[in-house]
Amino acid sequence: MSTETPAWQADIDATAAASLAAIAAAQDLATLREVEVAALGRKGSVTALTKRTGQLDKSERRAYGAASGGLRKQVQQAIAARRDAIRQATVDAELADLSFDETLPGTEPAGGHVHPLSRVQLELEEVFTSMGFAVLDYPEIESEFDNFEALNIPGWHPARDMQDTFWLESGHLLRTHTSAGQVRAMHQLEPPFRAIFPGKVYRYESTDASHEHTFHQLEGLMIDRHVSVGHLLDSMRTLLSAIFRRDVQVRLRPGYFPFVEPGFELDISCQVCGGPGCSVCKHTGWVELLPCGLVHPNVLRAGGLDPDEWQGWAFGLGLSRLVMMRYGVSDIRLLLGGDARFVEGFHAGA
Ligand code: PHE
Repeated sequence: MSTETPAWQADIDATAAASLAAIAAAQDLATLREVEVAALGRKGSVTALTKRTGQLDKSERRAYGAASGGLRKQVQQAIAARRDAIRQATVDAELADLSFDETLPGTEPAGGHVHPLSRVQLELEEVFTSMGFAVLDYPEIESEFDNFEALNIPGWHPARDMQDTFWLESGHLLRTHTSAGQVRAMHQLEPPFRAIFPGKVYRYESTDASHEHTFHQLEGLMIDRHVSVGHLLDSMRTLLSAIFRRDVQVRLRPGYFPFVEPGFELDISCQVCGGPGCSVCKHTGWVELLPCGLVHPNVLRAGGLDPDEWQGWAFGLGLSRLVMMRYGVSDIRLLLGGDARFVEGFHAGA
């Protein structure tokens, strides 16, 4: 092989210089693409050089092949590097041009909402916890025993008709009231104790603005020695004042429930008019809020407690009802209706 520079080297060098200069001069991706086609395309200058191998003398083909192949690679690399540089320059220019005013108000992201039922439930849990109550959670699918028998409501008892029941094929049922947790709590906790158990309850009944087959209750249960109606009344007054954050007058009317003796319907002074009478309290100054009473001895026995030693009071707060009163919701079916617009109405501090 000759040590002299071969004749074709000048062509290679000239094509290299021209291509690299064109690449360096390209200011945008479209121009660079044109340069790429002009050099490496089917009819490109670099391609034309590679095709020339066949015309050369056999002794030169090897060296020429290496030189033209090297040129192709060099041009390819230069184009790739230039493409990266142009892209980076575009991003840099956009960033430099971006006038960002951090004092402009942002776009508020669409957030979720706490359902009013959850909000009131959490609030009550806090009030009760601060007063020494345990918060318990019991099954929604219950045994007939816990929902009825243990609560002094045997199968023949007409009180069963007060709460129309969803029965399951297994013989279990969907609990008709949170009172189903009373006997469970007595077995779970050592007396004396105080506990609440909030949750969903189910009734097999047709729905209208004030009736829903699924709604929420919050059961309260206190077991101690020497519990009397006086304690019940006093506890209810304290609890309700804490819940409504102001002095609440309460009054008891007799009410019948087989699992309490005596049993009461508890009214509170109307929170809307404060007493003189308005349409909410039907001009009586009182609103019916919750049934309650002293735990029946049979229920204490079912819970493994000796009624001569232990007594207690219980109440069943209608959580759905309280939410409706608090927020002026006129149709109970809105609460669990699943229409997102309803929940959105309770944005933030509502
Ligand atoms: N469980 C009863 C109901 O749902 C309410 C209640 C609870 C009554 C506790 C007295 C004591 O109707």
